[in-house]
Amino acid sequence: MASKSAQDSAKLPFYTIVLLREQEIAEQLRSAFQQRYLPEHLFYWLPSSVQAWVELCRSTEYKNASRALEVLNLAAPELARRLSHIRTLCGLGCGEGSKDRVLLEQFGDGGNRLNYVAADFSQPLLELAADQVNGIAHSSLGCKLDIFDDGHLAATVGAAESFDGAVLFSVLGNTLGAFDVKKLPRRLRIHMRNQDRFLFDGEIFSERTLGGYDNPTNRRFAWGPLTGVGITEEDGKLEFSTAPAGDGLFAVTKHFTATRDLRVNLGNRTMEICVGEKLRMSSSIKYVNREALRSAVEDAGFRIESDWQSRDGNFILACAAPG
Ligand SMILES: C[S@@+](CC[C@H](N)C(=O)[O-])C[C@H]1O[C@@H](n2cnc3c(N)ncnc32)[C@H](O)[C@@H]1O
Repeated sequence: MASKSAQDSAKLPFYTIVLLREQEIAEQLRSAFQQRYLPEHLFYWLPSSVQAWVELCRSTEYKNASRALEVLNLAAPELARRLSHIRTLCGLGCGEGSKDRVLLEQFGDGGNRLNYVAADFSQPLLELAADQVNGIAHSSLGCKLDIFDDGHLAATVGAAESFDGAVLFSVLGNTLGAFDVKKLPRRLRIHMRNQDRFLFDGEIFSERTLGGYDNPTNRRFAWGPLTGVGITEEDGKLEFSTAPAGDGLFAVTKHFTATRDLRVNLGNRTMEICVGEKLRMSSSIKYVNREALRSAVEDAGFRIESDWQSRDGNFILACAAPG
């Protein structure tokens, strides 16, 4: 018989639908370095990035995660009461699953354990999410996807709707902006049925926003894709700035500037980055106020049923029905 500690560490089998292959992502990484632009999803792929992200999620300095959890903990009991018809939670861009776990625990508390569909682009994060919900979800299934691909989104929604009953789709941790707040709600809406719900959150921009990025744990995360290919702090500098992004949105942008000539190894290819060259990186979208976040979703054909805010008023969570 297995020892107690072996039993504790035993993981249940976790089935994943692979819509996006590792080989395609490796190719995207090479082409991103070639084009001198690192998109959002590549910040969650290499082991250095995954580890840095998990540390960031657990860090008290990272206001985004702590405020997202604060608002979720506030809202979850009411959501579980009001949405007792929900049978499946589908976390789009679920990361390591800590936010979805709050919902699964609360819904399960009343005996209504939900099926869980963990959807993300990162295989290691999907595995961590499956571990998080072990014993809390009725069943769990992974979907490895690129959310920008219409076919992948349709297949993921289809997987969630293949369980009996209504689905709660979540996009949490200020992730809606990364998935294109002007497009994702509309793309999701066309697949949703009347009984399904959409739970999303967002950070309100303030003069303190930029300061929230300037801590060692966050810098380690921002360096992740560079560290992963051997670029270190001796090779250049990473800078953050903010800029209005139109329609009530603000962007926190970041870029790397090489301070010496670099030769980067990317699998079987080598790439030169000259001193002074810039690598632009995906930005994090914030909202000018609560209305800007709400209206982005309402404009896509949703009716907001309720919203909640963090104690400092700078983080909003909202639940919407197809309207
Ligand atoms: C800001 S994190 C939030 C994670 C999680 N929702 C949370 O709050 O902890 C964004 C997540 O979206 C995923 N992601 C980024 N781009 C993606 C894409 N194109 N397709 C699917 N997932 C993506 C990342 O892997 C990451 O887990």
